[in-house]
Amino acid sequence: MRFESFLRSIPLAVLGIAWAANVSAQERFSLFVPSAQPTVERLVKLAKIQDNDFVVDLGSGDGRIVLTAARSNPKVRGWGVDINENLVRQSNEEAKKQGVADRVQFYHRNVFDADIREVTVINMWLFPELMRLLRPKILAEARPGTRVLTHLFDMGSWQADEWDKEGGSGVGLWIVPARVEGYWTWQTALNGANFTHDAIMEQRFQMVEGITRAGNRRGVFQNVRLRGEDLAFSLEMTLDGVGLTRHEFAGKVNGDTIKGTVKVALPDGKNVDLPWAARRSTSTAHFRPTGVESK
Ligand SMILES: C[S@@+](CC[C@H](N)C(=O)[O-])C[C@H]1O[C@@H](n2cnc3c(N)ncnc32)[C@H](O)[C@@H]1O
Repeated sequence: MRFESFLRSIPLAVLGIAWAANVSAQERFSLFVPSAQPTVERLVKLAKIQDNDFVVDLGSGDGRIVLTAARSNPKVRGWGVDINENLVRQSNEEAKKQGVADRVQFYHRNVFDADIREVTVINMWLFPELMRLLRPKILAEARPGTRVLTHLFDMGSWQADEWDKEGGSGVGLWIVPARVEGYWTWQTALNGANFTHDAIMEQRFQMVEGITRAGNRRGVFQNVRLRGEDLAFSLEMTLDGVGLTRHEFAGKVNGDTIKGTVKVALPDGKNVDLPWAARRSTSTAHFRPTGVESK
């Protein structure tokens, strides 16, 4: 029975107990089971490996995922880290044999000590508990847009952006989302009038909710999509002196700025395309109205 079929046949709770027994010895713990080669090919395909990708494997075993990615494209570089020194030595020897040692290296290192700030594709196939523990590290350190891949197991409440069930165990892709949580401000000019929008965005992984105000008018973001640094949403909102409008925002998040375009459908049926430039602000009183009505 293949390891993947075997794993699927036992309840996760049992795996959890087996893993918990090893937690205290995590520094020395090393369970190596290679991903089946067809699964490796599916991971590489789902990652849509392209020129200049930097592919890594956290817990790289015999190195097969990074080596397969490097063979698939001569412009791909990468590394793997593993807690088991013998596997690291074996992987580096294999990289030499396959003629890719100038682009691929393996290090004897704990996954939690790996520097993932410059990588574009992260693979990992570890017990679910360890992957959950790695989730905050990935979200805090990896750049928005970094593709994260694993199979069989998932990432808990961080929903996969793509999940391929064809041909055996599920293979999943998660895109590291930009951080958009907080207060934002932008201006639009419509029918000769300037509108300043203040907005608040709340975020859990790639799920985002938002509310905006322009003057005394309010609107709720609809159909919000956040994929890496690409943010898009719709907004139906009445604007003073203009009437009911429908906005379609699309932009790229870069730290505390968003740059893109907004298409506005006006009440008279006309459409206007405008640049959209938002900046994050530290706070706003606009969404914390206090006090009571005066007589
Ligand atoms: C299930 S194997 C997967 C190997 C490879 N990624 C693959 O898919 O073929 C998990 C690997 O993670 C390594 N490992 C486990 N805990 C680790 C840790 N804390 N730091 C680095 N490597 C670890 C093990 O030695 C093992 O080689």
